Amino acid sequence: MKPKNCLIFGASGQIGRNLIRSLTKNNIKVTALTRNIHQKGYILKTQANPGYLEIVEGSIFDYELTKKLFSNADICVNLVGILFEKGKNTFNNIHVEFPKMISKLASIYKLEKFVHLSALGIESAEDSIYAQSKLKGEKEILDNFGRTVIVRPSIVYSVDDNFTTQLMNLLRLLPIFPIYYNGRTKFSPIYCSDLTNSIRKIITDDIKENIIEFAGPEEMSFKDILEKLLLSIEKKRLLLPMPISIARMTAKIFELLPKPLITNDQLKLLKYDNVLSGKHKSNNDFDFDCSSRFEDEVNKYSYMWKNEGEYSKKKVN
Ligand SMILES: NC(=O)c1ccc[n+]([C@@H]2O[C@H](COP(=O)([O-])OP(=O)(O)OC[C@H]3O[C@@H](n4cnc5c(N)ncnc54)[C@H](OP(=O)(O)O)[C@@H]3O)[C@@H](O)[C@H]2O)c1
Repeated sequence: MKPKNCLIFGASGQIGRNLIRSLTKNNIKVTALTRNIHQKGYILKTQANPGYLEIVEGSIFDYELTKKLFSNADICVNLVGILFEKGKNTFNNIHVEFPKMISKLASIYKLEKFVHLSALGIESAEDSIYAQSKLKGEKEILDNFGRTVIVRPSIVYSVDDNFTTQLMNLLRLLPIFPIYYNGRTKFSPIYCSDLTNSIRKIITDDIKENIIEFAGPEEMSFKDILEKLLLSIEKKRLLLPMPISIARMTAKIFELLPKPLITNDQLKLLKYDNVLSGKHKSNNDFDFDCSSRFEDEVNKYSYMWKNEGEYSKKKVN
């Protein structure tokens, strides 16, 4: 059977790389748009067998280029998302205007399916600009193109993430680790391959649900996550609750950095639990396997953060 062509925006990120592997192994060709082929080309081209991946360099807002890419696509997956605003990369441009533009193209070019990555918990986080922009983007897409599946995951982790790896970097360095809201906010971390294999099934099994929430098998507070990571890298650290007024001041300073560790908008988001809402169908309602356990998966890569680095590696099945 002639392979279908899946156009992916944001393919070089954590979820994108995993998704390319899952799709191309299952006879789906991928076209990936990247802003910088020199920086991201190598990471991208090693994810697929020859002939299954085309890499195109360009801006996501280049309408003529995007139109051309749509004319050859059967399916589109949008993974472009930001956690903080910088210059023209505003939440409105990235989470509302861009999805609006490509969902209209999905309709014009009569695509089979449009899969859009949103996030869990955005309906409750009314004071976060990030969350509200994601919500507005979802609405625009659903108005433009009915054959859309919006994927709303809790926090996604893997060896390629900016979550467990960044936390382990900090936990290794800092003797005292600040926690916000007493570390009580709940998450259901989902393993990246579990999520991307499910996205592949959304495409191949022709799933029609408009919104699906995704969560891993465990519900954990932020403090539980830190304690599990500390256990995994064999370190003891003091987890110190930080008053929110001081957290806001430090976030203001971080916001001046090119890649802030935390922003005031993220602080707002952290107030809200990031677990299944019960308002929409979830991965548990479909034939998806999202059962990887946080500790088991993290233990497979955390040994590099231990004192002895690679020499501390215990055998992991
Ligand atoms: N990771 C999580 O825990 C998580 C949780 C919930 C929801 N999500 C959502 O899932 C999607 C994918 O997440 P991810 O973790 O794979 O993201 P990521 O690692 O940050 O990758 C996003 C990709 O988008 C591309 N991009 C294109 N134009 C961009 C622009 N103007 N600004 C920033 N990036 C741009 C980048 O690729 P190039 O540099 O190659 O252009 C980048 O690699 C996002 O929409 C995110 O909001 C993620």
